[in-house]
Amino acid sequence: MALKKQTVNTLQKMKTDGEKIAMLTCYDYTTATLIEQTAIEAVLVGDSLGMTVMGYEDTLPVTMEDMIHHTACVSRGLKNTFLVADMPFMSYHISDEQAVENAGRLIKEGHANAVKLEGGSKYASRIRAIVDAQIPVVGHIGLTPQSVNAFGGFKVQGRNEARAKEVLEDAKKVEEAGAFMVTLECVPEKLARLISEELTIPTIGIGAGNGCDGQILVYQDMLDMFDGIAPKFVKHFAHIGKEMKEAFNDYSKEVKSREFPVSGEHTFKIDDAVIEAVRKDS
Ligand code: KIV
Repeated sequence: MALKKQTVNTLQKMKTDGEKIAMLTCYDYTTATLIEQTAIEAVLVGDSLGMTVMGYEDTLPVTMEDMIHHTACVSRGLKNTFLVADMPFMSYHISDEQAVENAGRLIKEGHANAVKLEGGSKYASRIRAIVDAQIPVVGHIGLTPQSVNAFGGFKVQGRNEARAKEVLEDAKKVEEAGAFMVTLECVPEKLARLISEELTIPTIGIGAGNGCDGQILVYQDMLDMFDGIAPKFVKHFAHIGKEMKEAFNDYSKEVKSREFPVSGEHTFKIDDAVIEAVRKDS
C-alpha cells in the first residue's frame, strides 16, 4: 500500500485525528524498498544498528560515519516514508554547536528528514539549537540506551513516583524545546498514556503500551530474526529467521547434491561450434 508523502505535518495530524503512527527501524536499502511498499509511515535508522547490524554489545561505539552511511542507504530506498536518523553517542553531548553540526550532516549527507536524540530536560538546549537550524527533532526519553552505563543496565524507567515525575517532566521539556515527536522507551503503560495525553506532539512507544500515539519496533525483533529471548514488549509478526535458516540449508543441500543450478533454467547458452573451437585451441 503506497502512502502519500509523510511529513512532520502529516504525522502531527495523525495524533490530532487519533490515528496511530506505525514506525519500524531500518538500516539498509533492500529493507527500505520493502517498507516503502507498505503502510508504515516512518522509519528510524536507529543507532541500534550498532547491535543489530554491527554486532556490538550496545550502541555506544556507533559513529557519525556509521549513521550517515546507513541513513544514506535507507534514503535511496524510500520515497514517501518519513526518515528519521539517530544521533549517536557523543555526537551531541559536548555543545549545542556540535549538535547542530552533526544533525546537519545527517540531513545533508544522509538525506534524513529529521534527527532523533536521547535525553530529556538536560538536552533541551540541544533540541532547541537543532530546531532553530530548521531541522526537525524527535526526542527520546525513558530508557535511553546510550545511558546504559549510567542506568546500570537496560531497565524500565519511571516505576517509582520520583522517576515517573522526572520522565513526565522530560517529556514536557522536550516538547517545549521544539521537538515534533518523542519516543518513549520502556516506560510503564499508564505513565506513557498520561504523557501522551499531556503532550500535543505525537509519542512513539517501544515497550510503553497502547496509550502512545504510535509504535516503533526493531524490524529484526518483530520478524523474529534473532536467536534467544526477545524483550517482553516484542511481538513476532513472522518467523523470518527460521525461514532464512531453512532456505540457507536447502541451498547448501542442493549445491552439494548438484540439484542446483539446473541446466537451462539457471544457466546461459553458448553455440556448440564456439565451445568446440575453444576446446580445440586449449
Ligand atoms: O536505536 C533505535 O533503534 C531506537 C529505537 C529502539 C527507538 O532508538
